[in-house]
This record gives sequence, C-alpha cells and structure tokens, in this order.
Amino acid sequence: MQIKIFKDYNKLSFATAEIIINQVKEKPDSVICFASGDTPKLTCHYIVEKATKHRVDFSKVTFVGLDEWVGIPPSDSGSCHFFFRKNLIEPLHLTEAQVHLFKALSNDLKVECIKMDESILSCGGIDIILVGIGLNGHIGFNEPGTSPELYSHVKDLDALTIQTGQKYFNHTMPLQKGITLGFKHFNEAKKAIIIANGLKKAEIIKKTVEEGISIEIPASIINQHRNGYILLDEEAASLISPDFKHKL
Ligand code: PGA
Repeated sequence: MQIKIFKDYNKLSFATAEIIINQVKEKPDSVICFASGDTPKLTCHYIVEKATKHRVDFSKVTFVGLDEWVGIPPSDSGSCHFFFRKNLIEPLHLTEAQVHLFKALSNDLKVECIKMDESILSCGGIDIILVGIGLNGHIGFNEPGTSPELYSHVKDLDALTIQTGQKYFNHTMPLQKGITLGFKHFNEAKKAIIIANGLKKAEIIKKTVEEGISIEIPASIINQHRNGYILLDEEAASLISPDFKHKL
C-alpha cells in the first residue's frame, strides 16, 4: 500500500481522475467501481472533463456502483443511484448494459447481492475500486466489525453513518441498512484506492495508516492490498506521524 498526498482537494481530485482516465485508455474494457459521496464528486467532474476533452472512449467500460441505502428510491437525490447517474453515467453516456447498480428497493436483497457478485465475476473482476472513507473508517457500507470474508451483503448501519448520511438528503431520512460490495471485492480488485480530504478525515486516516489491519477500522484492510493506494489532501494527511511517512 502506498500513500500519496496532494496540496488540496482540487489537486487530489484532478490526480485521481487522471488515474481512472489512464486506466480506460490502457484497458478500454475496464471494470470500474466507484463510491458516491462528497469526496469523489470533484473526481467525477474531472473524469468527465478529461474524457470529453481527450475523447476517451468509455463505451466498453463496465461501471459498478459500490453501494446503496436500502429502501431509498433511485429518484431520491440523496441516493447513490442518483449520484452515479448525475455525475458519471449520464455525462459519460454509459448504457444500461454497461452499468451494475444495487436495486435497494428489491423485496429480495439477497438475490440482488448474488446478481451483483455474478455480474462482477462474469466481466472478469474489478480493475479499479475507488472508495471514500467514513468517519468510523467504513468503506462502502462495510461498517466496523464486518467480516472480511464477505462479497455483496446487507449491513445494519452504524449510528454515526445514519447521522452523517443525513447530509445527502433534503429532509430527515430514516436510514437503517445499506447494501454493499464486500471486502472480498475490495481485496480482489486489481487496484484499490481510498481517497479522503479535509481535516474531518485526519483522525480516521491516521488510525487506518498507523494501527495495523483490524475489522474495527474497515479501511485498514487496504494495508494488505498488493496494489492499494490512499490518496489524500494535506489536511486529511495532517495527523499521520513521521514514523509512517515511509509509506509515502
Ligand atoms: P463522504 O462519505 O465522501 O461524503 O465523506 C464517505 C463515506 O462515508 O464513505
């Protein structure tokens, strides 16, 4: 695992977008998994900008949505569906056949999980998984304590996730569960990237980098990834102690 630090959120997002663009240029049929959320928003903007400017062909890419709030309709502007469609799927003109998203209104979420796992398997596995990190260290909805042996699954949300998740919605939302890719997907992805910006993420980034691998800090699983990167702005990196700078 390697850590890279950028001056600010803008530079972090620009560089992260460049990684995705280069991936698609090198392997046009790449399978790319993205998180939604505030962190990857500007990365999405730069991906679309670069793809348009340099005519990068996304027509063979497979896009996988990392997770979704259970019970929230895709039309809700706070849903992950809505984020993916607005920020990536529509501006990159991805077709329905190219896109795999969890249907979190389904009566049978287990079937949804199986379908997602089979889709990922049938397109040859994930080339790049790009995730943000929650204040409790979650990646996707893999909350603290989640088994590292899981592929797609449904998870009860932490109180902190329910509380911070309200920021995506226009009104108070009774969030309870999430449907998410699992650690197995993260570990098996050919490249795994965690991005974080801002002082509010500094404490959990310090723990992720310094406290070893623990299911209590889900993002720490990246420490064992053979091709894992933590991309940070200076604020998110500000509490990493000098002893761990060798990971830079
Ligand atoms: P954020 O969410 O990008 O909105 O900070 C990160 C997360 O909870 O995974």
